[in-house]
Order: sequence, then structure tokens, then C-alpha cells
Amino acid sequence: AYVVIESCIRCKYTDCVDVCPVDCFYEGPNMLAIHPHECIDCGLCEPECPVDAIMHEDEVPQDQLEFIEINEAMSERWPNIYQIKAAPNDADQWKDVKAKRHLLEK
Ligand code: SF4
Ligand code: F3S
Repeated sequence: AYVVIESCIRCKYTDCVDVCPVDCFYEGPNMLAIHPHECIDCGLCEPECPVDAIMHEDEVPQDQLEFIEINEAMSERWPNIYQIKAAPNDADQWKDVKAKRHLLEK
């Protein structure tokens, strides 16, 4: 399955949900998650994210591995999102910030 990693936090541009053929994105307060059992590995969402926050689980770097579990757990709890929506007003201020996982709201 594909995985949403740290860069999504507080950016949440949602371009990704627009292309997903199986609508397997779930929306948290400041990040999205992909449901690992619903994702069909089509790869369409990966190039859509302006902050490169999506990748295949086999390509997740060592320091982002915890996000595999975060996607699995949160996609069970958060509501489905299948339509693109406006990003947070301050999204662009967060797009180059690397260390922001402590800001993840569940
Ligand atoms: Fe959806 Fe395809 Fe992305 Fe999986 S890889 S989340 S099925 S667009
Ligand atoms: Fe997040 Fe990128 Fe989608 S910022 S909401 S993974 S387009």
C-alpha cells in the first residue's frame, strides 16, 4: 500500500484524494491517511502531492517508518475524504518544515 508521511502534516493540500480510484483516503485534523487494505497500489496519488508526502510502503525512509502504522491506525478512525478541499490558510508556511510529527493531531 501507499503511505502518507510527515510532510503532509499541516499542509493537507488534498490533491491526492482527487485521483484515488478507490477513495481510500481518510482525513484527520491536520493530515490524511491511506487505508492500507483499501489502497490498490495504483500509484496515481504519489505525483499529485506538492510536498511529496506519499510513497509506497517499501520506499518509506527509515525515519518515517512509524507512519506506516499511523496510516493503518488512523484510517480506521478518521472519516473518509474523496473530494479536494481548500488547504489550511497557513499550509504554505509548513511545506518546507521537516520536523513536524510532534504536531500531528489524532
Ligand atoms: Fe488511492 Fe492509488 Fe494512491 Fe492507493 S496508490 S491511495 S489506490 S490513488
Ligand atoms: Fe497531504 Fe499531499 Fe495529500 S499534503 S493531503 S498527501 S496532496
